[in-house]
This record gives sequence, C-alpha cells and structure tokens, in this order.
Amino acid sequence: MTARKKAFSGIQPTGKVHLGNLLGAIQNWVALQDAYDCTFCIVDWHAMTVDYDANELRSKVRDCAIALLASGVDPSRCTLFVQSEVPEHTELAWYLMTCAPVSRLELQAQYKDKSAQHADNLNAGLLTYPVLQAADILAHRADVVPVGEDQKQHLELARELARKFNLRFGQVFPEPETLLTPAKRIVGTDGKAKMSKSKDNTLDILATPDELWQRLRSAVTDEQRLRRADPGRPEVCNVFAWHQMLTDAPQVASVESGCRTAQIGCMDCKKILHQSLLRLLDPIRERAQALYAEPEKVDAILREGAAKARRSAKATLALAREKCGFGPAA
Ligand code: TYM
Repeated sequence: MTARKKAFSGIQPTGKVHLGNLLGAIQNWVALQDAYDCTFCIVDWHAMTVDYDANELRSKVRDCAIALLASGVDPSRCTLFVQSEVPEHTELAWYLMTCAPVSRLELQAQYKDKSAQHADNLNAGLLTYPVLQAADILAHRADVVPVGEDQKQHLELARELARKFNLRFGQVFPEPETLLTPAKRIVGTDGKAKMSKSKDNTLDILATPDELWQRLRSAVTDEQRLRRADPGRPEVCNVFAWHQMLTDAPQVASVESGCRTAQIGCMDCKKILHQSLLRLLDPIRERAQALYAEPEKVDAILREGAAKARRSAKATLALAREKCGFGPAA
C-alpha cells in the first residue's frame, strides 16, 4: 500500500469562525480526511502579530477548536493541534527566514494591508508572518494545502522557500500545492470586501438563528434595487451568491426569477437564505454546544494532537538541522 499524501492547513484563533472559513477552507479539510494524511493547526503564534489580549487567547483557541470539531474535523482521522505546542515550527521558521529576501516579503499583499491597518504596530512579525506559515506547512512535509484564495500568495512563497532551502542545503521538502474550493472567496455582509474577522462583515458559524437573521437583514444586496417593485439583478447581488452555495438548485432558480421579476423582495430572498443557513449551521451549533459542556475532552484532543504533531515536526527538523550543519556529526 502506498502512503497517503499529506495535507496541512491552519486557522488563526483571532475571532469567531465564519462562513468564509467554513466554505472556503474547513469543508475541504473535512472532505480530505480519508484520502489524505491530514494535519490541521490553530495558529496562535500568528495571532501575536497584531495587538491581542493574552488573557483571552486560551479561550479563543478553545473556541476555535470547538468550531472546527463541530464542523466535522475528526480527531480519529486527522491531527488537530495548537501551533505554540510545537516549537519546531519556530526553529524551522528561522532557517527559512535566511532563505527569504526582505524585498519579497515586502511585496506580500497581506503585509501591505496589515501594515496599513496596524501602522502603529509595524512589527517584524507582520513582515515575516508568511515565513512562519511556510514553516508550519514544511515542518510536516505537506504535499497539499487546502485554503481560501486569500492565502494563495503566501503559498507561492512557501513553495519558493522549499525550493530555495532544498537547493541551498539538500532535498528535505516537497513543494506544497494549493487546494482551493469552488467557494474560494466568500464576500461579507457589506457586499464588497472578503468576509473577514478583521472587518465587521461576517456570518459566524456558531451564531444563534436570531443573530444570523440580524446580520442577514442588514446585508447589502443589489444597491440599484431601491424599491420592492424594482426588478433585481441577481448577478450583482452577494446574497444571491450565497444562495448559489447554500440553497438547493430548484429553489435558487425560483429565487433568481422571483428577484428579476420583482415577485419577491430582498427580505423574502433573505428569509429563504436564512433557512438554508440554518440547515447547514444548526447541526454544527448543536455539536458545539455539546463540546462546550466537555471542555476537558477538547483539551485532551488538542494534547494528543500536539504529541502527534511534535513527532512529525521533530522528524523533519532532525533532517533539516543535519542538512544545515547543526548538531553533532553523524
Ligand atoms: P485565516 O485564519 O484568515 O483563515 C482560515 C482559512 O479560511 C479561509 N478564508 C476564506 N475563504 C474564503 N472566503 C473568505 N472570505 C475567507 N476568509 C478566510 C482562509 O483562506 C484560510 O484557508 N495565514 C492563515 C493561517 C495559516 C495557515 C498556515 C494556513 C497559518 N499557517 C499554514 C495554511 C497553512 C490565515 O490567517 O488564515
């Protein structure tokens, strides 16, 4: 039997897990669990690159773990762990840092965005963020990385760093491939920007039905449809884009024609979407509630995951250290 290929991915514990995370990445993680040897990581070191409250971080890490487990990440078929439990990631990040041109890091779109947003805290961690991300992936010698489109540029850098390291020191790392879903870029409730924890435009997967409705009610639709009697343009409406991902095909067709002919208004359309969202999220919320009642079980899953991840990263780092000329001669 040939060994399964390895998949690795990560998520920051910086806010509540939202629909963009779920459709853009987590559903793909769940789907890969049998075909790949999967490792998923809650990246708390990455969360340090912006101001944060150290007293809240542990509970945010646990919230994130619960959202992932409730969404179908299954510890009996994958490894789920917290980044700061595996120090090998930072050791490898240092080796990779010496392969990463500063000029290349300064060109990363996410660095440009974040440095504009956090001009008062322009720390070196923001600049080297994608090097630590590359180390996460390469520490487990992953073949594929399931992510949303916003991570594509970081993954190109990870491939480049793997190539550079291999050329400079000898072959250690495969060049990881990016795996996108059809829902690779979910737009937020503002109808414009990518759904994102740092913007107030998310639909959180563990929100109550009422909270979801409140967010949906005010979600931006076709801005030219000012009155109920105006025909709408589903092709420019973000709520319709969500329908295409969440509602079954016959109902999508009826929403589309109802909107174009003004037989339904935006509120009717949103009520149907609310039902579709609840079909997807009710079971996730229920599983999460059960996990909140058993925090020690969640902590044990993360502990076991960290032990497995440490074994995997230690094996890679033994090889990398040796190639780089560290440690006693063999
Ligand atoms: P993060 O925490 O921002 O997002 C986690 C995953 O969700 C995807 N995603 C989206 N997909 C579609 N539409 C959206 N609106 C949307 N918002 C988020 C992201 O693409 C991601 O797949 N830097 C990473 C974390 C990371 C990582 C890694 C990822 C650290 N190390 C190693 C992969 C491999 C991040 O901040 O993701």
